[in-house]
Amino acid sequence: MVKKKTCIFISGKGSNLKNLIIYSRDNSFPIKISLVISNNRKAYGLIYAKKYKVPYIFIDTKLQNYENTILFNLKKYKISFICLAGYMKIISNRLIKDYQKKIINIHPSLLPKFKGLNTFSRILKNNEIKTGCTVHFVNKELDSGNRIVQKSFFIKKNDDETGLKKKTQLLEYKALPEAIIKIFRYI
Ligand code: GRF
Repeated sequence: MVKKKTCIFISGKGSNLKNLIIYSRDNSFPIKISLVISNNRKAYGLIYAKKYKVPYIFIDTKLQNYENTILFNLKKYKISFICLAGYMKIISNRLIKDYQKKIINIHPSLLPKFKGLNTFSRILKNNEIKTGCTVHFVNKELDSGNRIVQKSFFIKKNDDETGLKKKTQLLEYKALPEAIIKIFRYI
């Protein structure tokens, strides 16, 4: 199997990145992580890129032509698939067009519910019974592309934001690899 050269975009902790790096070491997993892009120089996730010897780039999104730098590097590393894993920046329409149906995102709610930021506080405020995570394709609308995998759990009375985040992330570590396998199953 020829693995798809994949770029993971991050901004922070990078626990999904770490999880995917470990999965991708398996010969039967369909992607190879060839590049990590971070818009945060201090993102903890960059430690995993270093540790597992994955090339990584910091992109200064304050610079006017930063999208060109992203596109240049995606070409340079022959990237054919992109995964946004905690990337806190909206990606450009140009990137979405160049990588149509080839960009996925992981979101910490049961989409279409709770798009956007501060999901956990809104979920609690809304007295939801269930929550979870969603892996979806990225299109021009925020958190709105076709859903690939969704995983859920029941919210307990004593769950606070930290608890919800922890439980949601544990599901994310299953959902993201599962979505990637699902996408490439027939290729
Ligand atoms: C995840 O919870 C994901 O749902 C959200 O950002 C978080 C990233 O976590 N989009 P990490 O950086 O992978 O630990």
